[in-house]
This record gives sequence, structure tokens and C-alpha cells, in this order.
Amino acid sequence: MILEEILKRKSVRSYLDKPVKEEKLNEVLEAGRLAPSACNIQPWKFIVVKGKKRREKLAIACKNQKFVGEVPVIIAACIVSKGYNMGGWYDSAVLDIGIAFDHMTLQAVHLGLGTCWIGAFKENKVKKILEIPDEIKVAALLTLGYPKDPTEVKKNRKPIEEIVSYKKYT
Ligand SMILES: Cc1cc2nc3c(=O)[nH]c(=O)nc-3n(C[C@H](O)[C@H](O)[C@H](O)COP(=O)(O)O)c2cc1C
Repeated sequence: MILEEILKRKSVRSYLDKPVKEEKLNEVLEAGRLAPSACNIQPWKFIVVKGKKRREKLAIACKNQKFVGEVPVIIAACIVSKGYNMGGWYDSAVLDIGIAFDHMTLQAVHLGLGTCWIGAFKENKVKKILEIPDEIKVAALLTLGYPKDPTEVKKNRKPIEEIVSYKKYT
């Protein structure tokens, strides 16, 4: 059941020193590849980083978030093209990438892995480390590895009545 994975998913900031098998990594990436995007544009490219040196450099680029250097795999999500103009006021590319990453986070949970979204990063530094061309944007990064503590945690979320209304905006 997908709700099981949704409930189990949490931001993991402490990982075991255990590599992620190629097969599992490929399944996580496949979940992202299959994600929907506006007009099926798929405006993304994902860079997988495993090497220690690059990971440590990325940790610094991610505003010194130490765990980013300690996780076995980092996935950087790049925007390679425009998305679709949503509602006439915004480009869907970042949203599309969010969906792809979300698919990956849930597949990771299904495989016993943990992830953490990384939004705190200096784009220019990340681009330099990963040799990303000028015209390409970095939307977010994701850490991937085995959680030190795999136990489920209670979710701190707004109550349903606060975020859902029926018939009209209230
Ligand atoms: C777009 C986005 C960016 C985030 N950036 C970071 C980050 O840079 N570092 C970090 O430790 N957590 C980051 N997080 C994790 C959030 O803090 C976390 O998802 C939120 O507090 C809810 O907790 P949970 O993921 O454990 O349910 C980010 C999450 C999202 C969705």
C-alpha cells in the first residue's frame, strides 16, 4: 500500500556506512523516470554522485550540511528545458522535478532506504562541482542511503480541516 510508504517516509539525516546496490539505485531512478510531468515534457536530468570527494564538496555547497557528505548516494535534479506554463503564471519544471523526486523517495522507502530532500544549497557551487553547463538549472538534491534509525516517526502536519475545504474556499 502506498500510504504505508508515505507514513514511513521521513527525512533521514543519519546513514549507515553501507553502499546502495546498483539494482536498488536503479529502481529508485526508475520510479523518478516514470513520474508524470506537465505535457509529459520530462524537463529533467538526474546526476548520481557516489564518490567521496565529490560528496564532501557537495556537503559544503549544501550550506555545510555534514550528512550530505556522509551519505552513500546523492542525486542532483537538473532542469534541462522549460516545462509547461501552468495557469498562465508559472513554469512547471520545478514542480515536475518535485514529483519525480517524490516518486524516488517513496520507492526508496519501499526498498528499505532513506532519503532527504536538499533545498539548502548554493546553485553556483553545485554546478561547478558537477560540471553542469551554464544554461542548466539545479532544482534540488536528494540524499539516498540506509537510515541509521529506520523506525517510523509521528508526522507533524496541519490537521485535515485546516488544509481542505469543500465547495468553496473557506
Ligand atoms: C523542497 C524541500 C527542501 C528541503 N531541504 C532540506 C535541506 O536542505 N536540509 C534538510 O535537512 N532537510 C530539508 N528538507 C526536509 C524538510 O525539512 C522535511 O521534509 C520536513 O521538515 C518534514 O519532515 P519529514 O520529511 O521528516 O516528514 C527539505 C524538504 C523539501 C520538501
